[in-house]
Amino acid sequence: MEKKLNEVVVIDGVRTAFGKAGEKGIFWTTRADDLAVALAKALIQRNPRVEPGMVEDSIWGVTNQVKEQGGTLGRAVPMLADWGWNIPGCSIDRMCASGLTAIGFGVGYIATGMAECLLTGGVEHMGHLPMGFMRDPHPRLQEVMGGPSAFQMGMTAENIHDRFPEFTREMADRYALSSQQKAGRANQAGKMKPMIVPLEVELTDGTRMVVEKDQQPRPGTSMESLAALKPAFKENGRVTAGNASGLNDGAAAVLLMSERKADALGLQPGMRWVSSAVAAVDPTIMGTAPVPATLKALDKAGLTMDDMDIVEINEAFAVQVLYCLHRLGLKADDPRVNRWGGSLAFGHPLAASGPRLVTFLMNLFKENTDARYGLTTMCVGRGQGYSIIWENIQG
Ligand SMILES: CC(C)(COP(=O)(O)OP(=O)(O)OC[C@H]1O[C@@H](n2cnc3c(N)ncnc32)[C@H](O)[C@@H]1OP(=O)(O)O)[C@@H](O)C(=O)NCCC(=O)NCCS
Repeated sequence: MEKKLNEVVVIDGVRTAFGKAGEKGIFWTTRADDLAVALAKALIQRNPRVEPGMVEDSIWGVTNQVKEQGGTLGRAVPMLADWGWNIPGCSIDRMCASGLTAIGFGVGYIATGMAECLLTGGVEHMGHLPMGFMRDPHPRLQEVMGGPSAFQMGMTAENIHDRFPEFTREMADRYALSSQQKAGRANQAGKMKPMIVPLEVELTDGTRMVVEKDQQPRPGTSMESLAALKPAFKENGRVTAGNASGLNDGAAAVLLMSERKADALGLQPGMRWVSSAVAAVDPTIMGTAPVPATLKALDKAGLTMDDMDIVEINEAFAVQVLYCLHRLGLKADDPRVNRWGGSLAFGHPLAASGPRLVTFLMNLFKENTDARYGLTTMCVGRGQGYSIIWENIQG
């Protein structure tokens, strides 16, 4: 029996503002699951033709699946959103690409006919559940991964600097500055507003406030202020708080549907899935993995980087982005790349960043109707890369 794949489209994408992890963070008194629930509710509110009962699974990326992020958060979200008991759910961990993998798995569900409509997303509260919290790695893992630096993400970025010294600290700082500047311009122009769901939170002193702006961006950043920062991970190193992504709290979510169902509901989707790929590399230079993942996704689609009109690459560290762009044949200041800035400016709440990239791309497609193809790609701790290529169907 021959089976045909269904076309998969993105209906909508939303996110919370991204906060700084820790007591001064805007979400210090807010639970991770509440961030996810707010987005589930918002997606239904923004798309009145979609009813909660149409959602056939709730697939959430979460890196640290303990405490408020544990117990199969994906199953809890629809119930906490008061959608009843009938919507199944699961949680997925591929570290930083947990949320992008949730979307990738959702694409597979819909393409193969297992579902018509899915809630997918990612959430990480790095303030409540810091990286590595309650982890108990196998005693041999360090050895098989190539040494202790594979466990420390900042050190994996230092390793890229050491092994590929053509990517200098000055270049990393310049890239970080451009991310801050692009994010600053995007914020000024109101580009974040349509995708951020305002959330009322209670601060530690009991006052209430509505959170609708990212806490991390530093529009006043300059080359001088970046150059003054000390290495964060090793003596005489090159990775600093300025050219690394931060420690953040946040969530992002995407509503996926079969194109057939979207048409039947009279919805106008934002983009169509083209191809996906995951790849693995030496864990001590994990930030290089978007390169093989992207080449594989391009190959599956029969496309090249020249066909990519918009590129959303996660900025875990400036040096790994510089490496990936160079190896993919792009200049560091290529106007197709991270037009509204990236995680160096907005922050990187691990599992939330993949759906944020997808949401950014869909909004960029909306105002660039000439753009046909776009790439979302990110690196992952332990040495993995995940890439998804999308086609613009707006305009
Ligand atoms: C790099 C890291 C250790 C810095 O942590 P931190 O010290 O808490 O970071 P902060 O944001 O408080 O910044 C530290 C200092 O740098 C300064 N700074 C940060 N970004 C800056 C910028 N863009 N321009 C100028 N100064 C900046 C801050 O002002 C701060 O100085 P202050 O304490 O005098 O205010 C942390 O962000 C980190 O671990 N990042 C990597 C996260 C990670 O591994 N994610 C997974 C990726 S795979």
